[in-house]
Amino acid sequence: MTLKEKCPVLHFGDLGDERGKLVVIEGAQAIPFEIKRVFYIYDSDSTVVRGQHANKESEFVLINVAGRSKVRITDGKEEIIVELNKPMMGVYIPKMIWKDMYDFSSDSVLLVLASTHYDGSEYIREYDRYLELIGLKQKGPLNV
Ligand code: TYD
Repeated sequence: MTLKEKCPVLHFGDLGDERGKLVVIEGAQAIPFEIKRVFYIYDSDSTVVRGQHANKESEFVLINVAGRSKVRITDGKEEIIVELNKPMMGVYIPKMIWKDMYDFSSDSVLLVLASTHYDGSEYIREYDRYLELIGLKQKGPLNV
């Protein structure tokens, strides 16, 4: 499976009419998991890099409900960059995939749907540790 297949861009239906747009995302229907947590990131800017982690347990869908941002996604072998710039699109990020979010427009509101409640201990925040855990790097002598 390619990284693009593992992390597909999702297109949500628009139920809008002359009164405006309406996008509905139902857990385990429009996205591949039940939603346990929602958070959103705003007031970041083009100089900021967020994310910079992989998760042992959580799956995510990222949607820019306003403005735009980019997500750099890697599994340690391949890398893809997805520009999120429409409220009707999102990107799915499964467990154990590294992601960085950056290049936020000043009006960016990045909505994140997560499959888990927050547990800081399932976040892998060092890239070398991530590579070790997915078997792409040997442990060094000091961190056996
Ligand atoms: P962080 O994971 O650094 O944010 P991002 O991945 O979006 O760049 O989270 C920033 C802080 O917020 C950190 O102290 C952990 C806390 N936090 C929670 O308490 N619950 C959550 O669901 C999230 C995403 C973060």
